Amino acid sequence: MFSASTYTDRRRTLMEAKEPASGLVLLLGNEQSAMNYRGNPYPFRQDSSFLYYFGLDVPGLAAVIDLDSGRVCLYGDDPDLDDVVWMGDRPSIQEYAARAGVDTTASRSSLPEDLTAAIEKGRSVHFLPPYRAQQHHRLERLLGIDRERQHTFASAALVRTVVSQRSVKSDAEVDELETAVDITAEMHKTAMHMAEPGRTEREIAGRLSGIADARGQGLSFRPTCSIHGEVLHNHEYSNTLAADDLLLVDAGAASPLHYAGDITRVIPVGGSFSSRQEAIYEAVLDAQMGAIDALKPGVPFRDIHLHAARILTEHLVDLGLMNGPVDAAVDAGAHALFFAHGLGHLLGLDTHEMENLGEDVVGYSADQARSEQFGLHTLRLARPLKPGFVVTIEPGCYFIPALIRRWRQNQRHAKFINYNAVADFESFGGVRIEDDVLITDDGARVLGPGIPKSLDAVEAECQR
Ligand code: GLY
Ligand code: MN
Ligand code: MN
Repeated sequence: MFSASTYTDRRRTLMEAKEPASGLVLLLGNEQSAMNYRGNPYPFRQDSSFLYYFGLDVPGLAAVIDLDSGRVCLYGDDPDLDDVVWMGDRPSIQEYAARAGVDTTASRSSLPEDLTAAIEKGRSVHFLPPYRAQQHHRLERLLGIDRERQHTFASAALVRTVVSQRSVKSDAEVDELETAVDITAEMHKTAMHMAEPGRTEREIAGRLSGIADARGQGLSFRPTCSIHGEVLHNHEYSNTLAADDLLLVDAGAASPLHYAGDITRVIPVGGSFSSRQEAIYEAVLDAQMGAIDALKPGVPFRDIHLHAARILTEHLVDLGLMNGPVDAAVDAGAHALFFAHGLGHLLGLDTHEMENLGEDVVGYSADQARSEQFGLHTLRLARPLKPGFVVTIEPGCYFIPALIRRWRQNQRHAKFINYNAVADFESFGGVRIEDDVLITDDGARVLGPGIPKSLDAVEAECQR
C-alpha cells in the first residue's frame, strides 16, 4: 500500500469536489468468487476504485464516506478461527482501517441497517456502476434497487469525480507504472528469446505469465501471444511457430500495487524479418513514433489518432496497397481496413483505465461525440490530454481475411484501396506496436526501461 495519508488525501479531494455535494458515498470492495467450487476461487482482484481510495487488497470490505460530516467508516469482519486455521492469520478490521487512514470500523452485518437508516432520513446513497454479478446482488440487497435499474441509479456525479481524480497520476503512481513496465519488458525480451520454429504459443505465453507472477501481481490482462496477430484480442495459444511467422505479443504485468503494464511487440520467428514484414513493421513504427512525438497537454487524443492514421496511410500508399490523397482517404475511413481500432486508452490500475465507469465519460469530453465511422467508433480516448495522464500508443496494421473479403465484395472505398495488391497480403497476419506513455508538462515520456522496438533492436534481441 501507499502511506495512509495518500488514501486520506484522495478521499479528502473526493469530498472537496462537492460532486456529489451531499449524502453518502458507498464503495464496495470485491468478494472472493468461486471458480468451480467455493474452496477453489478465482484469483482475488480488488475493485480498482476501492484500491484507489483505500488501498486494501482483501475481499469482504465496503466503505461509506459521509460527504456532510466527513466521517469515513470501513465495514468488514475480523478473521474467525476457521479463517486463521485454513488461510493463516490476518489483521483485524481496525488494523486494516488504520493502514488506510480510517478511524471508524463496523461489522459487515451492520452495513445494511446503517444504509437503511440513512435512506429513511432522506439521505442519498451514491454508488458506482456495478460490473460483477456479486456487486449487482449486493446492491440489490443493500439498497433495494433491482439489477436492471442499477446503472440508471448509479451516481453520474460520483463517476465524474472519480474519473477526474484517477485520470491524473501522482509521481508515486507513475513509479508503480514504471515497475509494471519494467516487469513487462522482461516478459517481452523473453518472448523474443523464445520465438523459434517448433515452439508453441502456449509455452511462450506460459513463461510470460510466470514472470508476471514471480515479479508482480501477475498478468494485467489476458495476453495475446499469437502468429495470428490480425485477431485483435486473440486469446488462443494453439499454434506452433514456423520460420517466417510473425509472433504478436500483447502482454503486461501488474505492479505490486496493481498498476498495469500494456505493451505490444511483434517478433520475427527465427530472428529476422522478411522484406515485406519490414515494410509493414516500418509503417506501424513510423505511425507509433509520430504519434508519441505529437503528444502534449491540450492536444485532443483524437487528433493524435488521426495523425497516426495518416502516417500509416502514407506508407500504405507508397506500398501500393492504398491510393491517395492521404487526407481524403483517412477522412473517409478507408485506412480502417488495415487499422480498425483506436490508437490507445488511459492506463492505470486498470489496463483500460476505469472502463467499468463508462468508456465515454472516461475518454470523451462533454463536447465530443463518438464517431460512428467504422474504426473510429472504437476509439476509447478522444479528449484533450493533461499532464499526468498515462496513455497507450498502439497503432497497428492488420490483414483480416474476413474483413478484406467483405469490403472487396462491396467495393468499399474502392477509390482508396487497391484490392488486387491487398490480395497478396491476405495471409500476412498483423503488426501492432504499443508503448505506455506519460503526458508531462510540455510533452510526453515513454515509461519503462526501453524494450527493443526498431527492426534492428528486435532482431538483435532475438539473437541473444
Ligand atoms: N492489451 C489490450 C489493449 O492493448 O488494449
Ligand atoms: Mn495491449
Ligand atoms: Mn492497450
